[in-house]
Amino acid sequence: MQVSAEDIDIMGEEAIRDPAGYFAPWRESEPVVWAPRCRSWLILNHAHISVALRDPRFSSDRISPFIRRKLSGEGVDPLVRQSFDVLAGWLVFKDGADHARLRGLLSKAFTAKAVASMRERVERLTAELIAAAPQDGVFDLVEQIAVPLPSIVIAEMLGVPTIDRDRFRHWSEMVAPVVSAGLDDPGRYESAAIGMDALVKYFLGLIERYEREPADNLISSLIRARDEDDSLSHAELIATCTLILFGGHETTANLIANSVLALLNHPREMAALRSGAVEPQKAVEEFLRFDGPGKAVVRVVSEDMEFAGKEMKAGQRVFLVLASANHDRQVFTDPDVLRLDREMGRHMAFGWGGHFCMGAPLARLEAAIALPAIVKAFPHLVLDSKPLAWQQVFLTRGLIELPVRAAA
Ligand code: HEM
Repeated sequence: MQVSAEDIDIMGEEAIRDPAGYFAPWRESEPVVWAPRCRSWLILNHAHISVALRDPRFSSDRISPFIRRKLSGEGVDPLVRQSFDVLAGWLVFKDGADHARLRGLLSKAFTAKAVASMRERVERLTAELIAAAPQDGVFDLVEQIAVPLPSIVIAEMLGVPTIDRDRFRHWSEMVAPVVSAGLDDPGRYESAAIGMDALVKYFLGLIERYEREPADNLISSLIRARDEDDSLSHAELIATCTLILFGGHETTANLIANSVLALLNHPREMAALRSGAVEPQKAVEEFLRFDGPGKAVVRVVSEDMEFAGKEMKAGQRVFLVLASANHDRQVFTDPDVLRLDREMGRHMAFGWGGHFCMGAPLARLEAAIALPAIVKAFPHLVLDSKPLAWQQVFLTRGLIELPVRAAA
């Protein structure tokens, strides 16, 4: 049923549980719509999202206007201000030349070779995590496999010593709500600021260490890229480390858990993946499309303009709802059906255009190794309980837990 535009509630129970279904009527009838309850434009169909993601009038910089508006006066907690200054250095929030410069530098460190070199490690880790889970009984797949795999992989790629991993994860979890929930919830700032401060101090120490003794890791490569091309400041180096940490953590964990859930709900597709009848790489593209972890990306209108027949004003916020575009029947046949051998049109799970996800090859590698391994290791896996609880955030889509029952 199509609710009125006034009633669109992006954080409502239905939108959180089934975003593609919730937005379907609007995607078909009025895919660019102003939603007063979240004071934002929503862009819901594939065609308009792919144009908007390449249109420079939709700015990615929503942090510096926020700092100017809310964090520049007297009485602002310096720790909160510092944490937003770090976020302002993330290339995902930059436009134009600054974005291109930082993206170029990161691509020198985060290479296809660096990702490919992780293959064996990902295979070994997956096997270890699977072996540590109960082989006959109930466990939370999020906690036991989906979260630890990408967080250990990214920590190792960055050069974080094993012994520090838990502290590192704790701080990044403190910052995560601000990053994935948007900027509307001041209650989250203080704890995020404490987490970010700890992370920054920790990275400062690691950077100093790898400046003295370079090693084979991403931080050392970023230091080398900075020294070869002195346009990367120290603050940007730290910001980039924190961005990779976030990029590498939660999204891939959510991809693994969302995909296992999709398989539990589609036993035929589960059997096809288990038997090797579908290529894991192909299946991963369908998981990304069907229920990918990146639900929406945000832009800010940089000048008064017309887009898709609508008058947009400078400063207005725009949610480009990737989860909706990925179920657009103009592009995908039977979009609500999970079909692991689908001949894929271009899905939007990693975004599109200049900000296309830089971690896509790593996420694809991890999911293509972990998902077949999980379904093969647990031949009688079933969902243990319903209803499932989804994280109450709009930008990403992930389960709080995925209780499954394995049977010997
Ligand atoms: C399934 C897992 C992942 C998904 C669904 C995902 C999704 C996305 C999306 C939608 C964007 C575009 C944001 C925008 O346009 O505003 C993005 C950007 C980015 N992602 Fe990912 N991501 C994933 C994994 C990763 C991983 C593993 C890393 C790194 C280790 C990473 C690093 C980045 C970076 C650095 C950017 C910024 C690119 C830019 O602004 O030019 N991501 N990601």
